[in-house]
Amino acid sequence: MTAKIIILDFGSQYTQLIARRLRELNVYCEIQPFSNTIKLDPSIKGIILSGSPFSVKDENALQIDLDQFIGKVPVLGVCYGAQYIAQNLGGDVLKSDHREYGKAMMSIDQTNDPLLNGLKRETQVWMSHGDTIKALPESFEIIAHTASIPVAAYRSIEGVYEHPVYCIQFHPEVTHSLEGKELLFNFVRNICQCQGDWTPASYVDQSISELRDKIGDDGVVLGLSGGVDSSVAAMLLHKAIGDQLKCIFIDNGLLRKNEFEQVLSSYEGLGLNVKGVRANDAFLDQLAGVSDPETKRKIIGRVFIEVFEKEAKALDNIKWLGQGTIYPDVIESVSVHGPSVTIKSHHNVGGLPEKLDLKIVEPLRMLFKDEVRRVGAELSLPQYILSRHPFPGPGLAIRVLGEISKEKVRLCQESDDIYISILRETGWYDKVWQAGAILLPVQSVGVMGDERTYEYTIALRSVNSVDGMTAEWSRLPHEILARISSEIINKVKGINRVVYDISTKPPATIEWE
Ligand code: XMP
Repeated sequence: MTAKIIILDFGSQYTQLIARRLRELNVYCEIQPFSNTIKLDPSIKGIILSGSPFSVKDENALQIDLDQFIGKVPVLGVCYGAQYIAQNLGGDVLKSDHREYGKAMMSIDQTNDPLLNGLKRETQVWMSHGDTIKALPESFEIIAHTASIPVAAYRSIEGVYEHPVYCIQFHPEVTHSLEGKELLFNFVRNICQCQGDWTPASYVDQSISELRDKIGDDGVVLGLSGGVDSSVAAMLLHKAIGDQLKCIFIDNGLLRKNEFEQVLSSYEGLGLNVKGVRANDAFLDQLAGVSDPETKRKIIGRVFIEVFEKEAKALDNIKWLGQGTIYPDVIESVSVHGPSVTIKSHHNVGGLPEKLDLKIVEPLRMLFKDEVRRVGAELSLPQYILSRHPFPGPGLAIRVLGEISKEKVRLCQESDDIYISILRETGWYDKVWQAGAILLPVQSVGVMGDERTYEYTIALRSVNSVDGMTAEWSRLPHEILARISSEIINKVKGINRVVYDISTKPPATIEWE
């Protein structure tokens, strides 16, 4: 049983960051909604209560039964968690009409405390809270303060509980808390006594044996997309069950130039049992005459399911559908805010398991994106696949704006190919998070030689981001943009203008549709 820390999520924007930091310390952790009942078992080494956008003073404040774990395993309350513990164990919290937000200097009162051990006496922390703790519960003591709050950190007095309760009113998980990582290290490694043995290699070993137990002699079918997640999921399953895994890679006619052939041959080179299915016409026929982005996405999702279903049904003994779901997708679905508003409906294979009557196996379900890449490297997937930019499921259908035609897809593919090749050649491909060419549905006047032209415009998009939720446009050097523009205009007949998108997300999005 893997030792783990449970992070109870009260909806803070930073909850995932706490999990990231613990994983960086090679400690396995899981985020669970605050409302989950906690059944302690020996694998649970400690519990962290996250922050929250709510106030503990609100009538509808999120409630939890602290008796489930207080004193039974080490506990760390962060912001809301700290205030909730103070209020519910007999202390007092003051509702404040302003937020304390930003950097603060924390002074440590108890330098020999195990949580603060090794930190500087004065250390910078990041505050983001409205309410503040006015009085501590009995049997608790202050261990650090700042100029504006007397209780920056407090703990249960030694001996009161079998396992200590620690509470902090700042966020150790954000990098502005300069020694936050040391504090978390002290909590998980020293106080909770986690070994720090969670690594991509240990994950691979453990998953392989778990997958073997789970799947037995059954067959698994998995849809490859060429992206990192489905590729790593396939390799992990392949290592576990070999040829019992059958992969399907569908060409929807909306991939990048030559992508289908290149990716298919690298999959074959890896020993994966993969069938490439050319279904270009099925997709493009259904998309003819459609210009609304959401309708385009839905059509692609539907045709994908039709094609996949037909192929999967032709295989023998298939009992499972493998998917490359990763942890951020899983966490989002248990957010205290409920399902997030659909801004763009993402193309996925929802509905497939029921249609095919298959069970689901998701070997990457507990991994963050960078961990998926590390696991992929451990499985010797080539860099070419591991370092690929994210690419949307509906592909160029949402990069050819408005109505799609074969010719427009070709213009987009050719321009994109020039763009991406130059980024690779100049070393910029690996410095940006995602890049691609977008074909605008307007024509404009130009001049080539002595001739007037009336052709399409390509918009170049390149962004820096961590997770695609927010993004900044990449500051590509002007000389490189100049080269990309002139190569596209000179080589791709049908394009006479190139523009660069300098919008940030939000309020813009990364894709234009
Ligand atoms: P937006 O445009 O919402 O994109 O800022 C954020 C990230 O999601 C990708 N994206 C999609 N991925 N199906 C996908 O699988 C989709 O329908 C889809 N729409 C956007 C986008 O490429 C970016 O990485």
